Amino acid sequence: MKTVLTGITTTGAPHLGNYAGAIKPAIEASWNPETRSFYFLADFHALIKCQDPQQIHHSTLEIASTWLAFGLDPERVYFYRQSDIPEIAELTWYLGCVTAKGLMNRAHAYKASVQKNLENHEDPDHAVTMGLFSYPVLMAADILMFKANEVPVGRDQIQHVEMARDIAQRFNHIYGNHLTLPKAVVNHDTPVLQGLDGQKMSKSYHNTIPLFVPEKQLRKKINQIKTNLKEPGEPKDPDSATVFQMWKAFASPQQTEYMRKEFENGIAWGEAKKQLFELINTELKAPRERYHELIRQPGHVEQILRDGAQKARHHSQTLVTDLRHAIGIRRLS
Ligand code: TRP
Repeated sequence: MKTVLTGITTTGAPHLGNYAGAIKPAIEASWNPETRSFYFLADFHALIKCQDPQQIHHSTLEIASTWLAFGLDPERVYFYRQSDIPEIAELTWYLGCVTAKGLMNRAHAYKASVQKNLENHEDPDHAVTMGLFSYPVLMAADILMFKANEVPVGRDQIQHVEMARDIAQRFNHIYGNHLTLPKAVVNHDTPVLQGLDGQKMSKSYHNTIPLFVPEKQLRKKINQIKTNLKEPGEPKDPDSATVFQMWKAFASPQQTEYMRKEFENGIAWGEAKKQLFELINTELKAPRERYHELIRQPGHVEQILRDGAQKARHHSQTLVTDLRHAIGIRRLS
């Protein structure tokens, strides 16, 4: 059986782009009976970007509730919080001790920070924490702990999965074959949503549509999507329009064809947005209600995460016991 694993950093409320590009495909994939899925809340990773305790705490509830609201079945998958698996921190150290510093020097996220510092005439390591620098080692521990074969990720994370593979190889070379070599899987069919301004939808661009805003606000946000000045009746190019890109991400193939025709026929922007709102809202309505119910029951969500961690720890405890033995950290008698 194939093991698939992915982590979700717990910073901020998810937006439509996260849903279409990551949450929905991952939940659909979890129904495959031939895979064992590990989906976890990467709250240790969140600390690299966010030092607001309130936000760290609340994001965990928001993200867990989001995935559950869309029907992730905690009975079928391993759904847990990284910080509930103490073996992760331990494995991070073991891996760090076989990881070349030079490998970490090449990580894109670190290099981007250094580059920015140089441009601003700052010290190259200004505001670079050890958390940011050694982040790929923590991520390797997440992946290697559960012997993941495949790690579905966005393009920006491919390098990290390749580093996890390098680190595993290095470990195995020294201590014997204990770790499974993972590979990154980038699904090119998953839509990359554009934001309100037509750039990629991303928190860093402040152009997102939050996933679970009230209906009224969802409508308002959709009305803010950038369009051109074409009048009603004038044919419009669907492929360069954010409204159409978003439609495509939520529509069936028939619905997509229908809207393509409407664009050619010169549908008014206001009308296209109205229909887009209806389409998205239909899909989000029931999950939105479940989401708000879950947010009101943090104790229930907590219990689900704890049960998930307990299930996952069967695997992590076994692996760490083996690794300790392999490394030479053993009882004296
Ligand atoms: N670093 C990933 C991101 O920012 C999240 C993540 C943490 C992850 N650990 C992981 C993804 C392990 C895949 C596997 O998106």
